[in-house]
Order: sequence, then structure tokens, then C-alpha cells
Amino acid sequence: MGDGATTRAVAAAADRVEREVSARLAPTAETLERVARARSELVDQIRTAAQSRQSPLVRALVAGSAARGTFLTDRLDIDLFLLFPPDLPRDRLREEGLALGRAVLSDPETRYAEHPYLRGRYQGFAVDAVPGYAVTDPAHPLSPVDRTPFHQEYLAARETPEIVEQVRLAKQFFRTLGVYGSEARTEGFSGYLVELVILQFGSLRGVLEAARRWRIPTRLLPAEQDPPRLPPEVALILADPVDPHRNVASALSRRNLATLILAAGEYLQHPGPSWFEPRTWPTLTRAEALHRLEERGTHVAVVQLARPELVDDTLYPQVRKAERAIAEEVARSDFTVVGSACAVDPDRVLVLVEVGHPHRPTVRSQDGPPAGIDRVQDYLDKWTQPDAPVLQGPYVRGDGTLAVETRRPEREVEAVLRAVLPRLSLGKDLSPGKEPGPASVHPLGSTRESAGLSRGLDELLAKRLPWDRLPAGAR
Ligand code: UTP
Ligand code: MN
Repeated sequence: MGDGATTRAVAAAADRVEREVSARLAPTAETLERVARARSELVDQIRTAAQSRQSPLVRALVAGSAARGTFLTDRLDIDLFLLFPPDLPRDRLREEGLALGRAVLSDPETRYAEHPYLRGRYQGFAVDAVPGYAVTDPAHPLSPVDRTPFHQEYLAARETPEIVEQVRLAKQFFRTLGVYGSEARTEGFSGYLVELVILQFGSLRGVLEAARRWRIPTRLLPAEQDPPRLPPEVALILADPVDPHRNVASALSRRNLATLILAAGEYLQHPGPSWFEPRTWPTLTRAEALHRLEERGTHVAVVQLARPELVDDTLYPQVRKAERAIAEEVARSDFTVVGSACAVDPDRVLVLVEVGHPHRPTVRSQDGPPAGIDRVQDYLDKWTQPDAPVLQGPYVRGDGTLAVETRRPEREVEAVLRAVLPRLSLGKDLSPGKEPGPASVHPLGSTRESAGLSRGLDELLAKRLPWDRLPAGAR
């Protein structure tokens, strides 16, 4: 086959795969029917409950993917928004919203994101009842969810059945890659962002054709339309059509965008059904990890911190901050840091640091002043005291400055970490000394096994491209 013919054959294979996957993802008429009924009856019941409680509710609506048909059936939840007057104090908003949700949903459970909400069930569906303010201008929201009705209006007015189908296909592709979900744990694409890029490029294939050539940071609008105050690490820039001050992609990490960019090129060359089939793989056990360390000639120290009672969206940024602070401190302490990772268990937070060697040298070379300045005398006095921990020197270096080589009290990476941990800035609720308990540091070999440890080890010692997980031939 010539090049043109090959390209056409690959495109035809992608067409076929996408058609088959789309058909599989399409909700059945019965599901759509049940969702539609739940939506309207839910809103009616909320109105009735609001009247009997004399609640100041302005409006109840179902927004999100259940309102637009852009949901993936196996993770369908109904997003119910309860909007109150802008002058209602925040504690009343919370109280009224949660009370209305409780009146209508079964098995209600209060949850907190940036914002409190109620998770419950209705006619067999999971429902999030989220209180917010009925604002008139989405560029001036009073709570983080107040733009939602405007998102709903914006998307509903533009989405055709073809676009809806492509949104589901794209969500499934992104989910398989591990880049779907804007929560802090994932740092991926939100559902709303996926819908906007599909609208912009027309289809998943359109998005991928563009994305394969994206460079980070990526702008999806002219630079003069940038939202203000973009952070230096921004990955993707797309102003929210209902609020140009907000970057819709602010939660997306550079790693996840780069993963999408690479996957786009790979998929377009090797389309296949496995790009849409999420799978879990066994993570590394401690024994397997120790074997890899032997092969790599390295060592892993594990810092264990008590897990504070925080929601994931608050916890994960702190855990990543702790990982960075610990890895940087180990590198500053004269160890060769090969990598680091973090993980969360129900009872503990783990930071893993891989170092070239478990011990650093005893000797430490310390800089002194240049010859000829006043401070030289003090320096010499200090380092020639009989009890000074000097291994060699003081002496003159080739560049004309003084130096001394001293003895370090601690050589082992775990001992060094134990000593510095109380001084590190680990994240507001993680610093040792804070409730609920002390920190400990152990070599990997004497760290308790757990699911979190395995995930951390996988992140540290089983790095690969996500599509390498897909079975060969299917790509
Ligand atoms: P979801 O995260 O449930 O997104 O938020 P979704 O579009 O329904 O996608 P999936 O299919 O469940 O994954 C629902 C809506 O809530 C608004 C967005 O407009 C979103 O479409 N929202 C959510 C906010 O405005 N702010 C938030 O912090 C969270
Ligand atoms: Mn949703």
C-alpha cells in the first residue's frame, strides 16, 4: 500500500472503532427515559419541599451530564442545583440546601468539596444536591458552583446529538488514559472542559488531530483572550465562555496534558478498541519492589505521616507539597535522588524517596571566606578548636578561598530525614507535631505493606506510558 492508502486504512479503522464504541456507550432509550423522569420529578419534589418548609429557594435545576445526555452510564450521577437568593448568609444557604436535599433523597450523606453538598439516592440514581446562589451574572459568582446554570444553558443551546455522542466517546478515551476528572487527586479534564473542546473541534478525532501538535502551555483561544492571573505552571488555557476571567482548564496538570498529546499521535497511528477499555493492573508488591531496587542498585526510604481528616481535594495538594519538600531536602543533604512518589492509605500518608545509596559520605566539604578578609581569623579560630568536628583542614582551595571538611553526625537517609522532618514545611495539616500523630521514617524493607504503599511503589518503580498497559495488537 502507498502512504495515502495506509493513511486511509488507518482512518477507516479508527472510524470503525469509534462507531462501535459510541454504540456501546450510548445510553438505552430506557435509561434516558428513567433519567428524564427522575429529573423532572426530583425538581417537582424539591419545589414542594421548599414550599412546605417556607424555604427561600429561588430555583432548582438538574445540570451536568445527566441534563445533557453526555454521561457515561456506568458513572452516571445526577447533579441537582438548589439556588438561593444572593443575600442569604452562607450558613443559611448550607442549612437550607442540605435540608431540602434530605427531604427528598434517601440515604443522604453530607460531603464537602470547595463547598458542602448532599449525596443521596433518588429512583435508583446517585444524586448530588448542591446549594448555590441564583446570580444574574456568571462572571461574578458568589459560590464556586454559581456558573453551573449558565454552563447548562450554553452547552444545551449548542449540542447536537452528534456532539453529545462525541462527548461520551471523548470522556471514555480520556478516562482510559487516566486524565478524566478535575478533582485534585486526578488533575485531569473536567466534564465541562471535555464538552467545550468537543464543541470547538467537532469530534474526538478533531480534538486528537489538533492535540497531537499542541505544545505546553496550549492556548485554545487567541492570547489576548487569556484569563488574567494564569499560574506559571498552567498547562491549557481556555476562557470559560460564561466567565472570561476563569480558565476552564485550571485543574489540568502538565503531565496529564502531555499524556493526551502523546496519546493523540499514538491513537491516530494505531487506533483500536483498547483505547476505550479501562483496565486495572496489579500494582507492585513490596517484595517485587525490593527486587527492582536490587536490580537498580538503589534504596527507598519511606516517610509515613498520620493522615489528617481532610477531603481529598484538600489533602492531595498537601501530600504533593510534602513529597516535593522531602525530596528537595534529601537532595540538599547530599544524596542522589533518583525519584519520589506519594500515596494515601485510610490511616496514613506515605512519601517515598528513591536514592542512589542509603548512606551519604561522612565527610562534608564546607566553604569558607576568601583569603585577605577580616572574617578569615574567626573562621580559622572556629575550625582549629580541639573539639571541632574536622576531618581535614582548614586549607586553601585552588580558587583562593578557605575550606574545611567536617564529620557529619548522620549518614543514613532515614536518620537524616528523621532529624529534619520537624523543620520541613510539608503542607498545613501534615507537618509532624500536628494532630493526629507522629511521623516515622523507615527503609522500604521494614515498611508495612498496604494498597497505598503498592500504588506509591508503582508510581516510583513501574513508570511507563499509559497505553503500554494496553494489550499488544489491540493498539
Ligand atoms: P460534574 O463534575 O458532575 O461534571 O459537575 P459533569 O459535566 O456532570 O460530568 P460527569 O459526566 O459527571 O463527569 C457538574 C456541573 O457542575 C458544575 C459544572 O458546570 C459541571 O458541568 N461545577 C462543578 C462547577 O461549576 N464548579 C465545580 O466546582 C464543580
Ligand atoms: Mn455530573
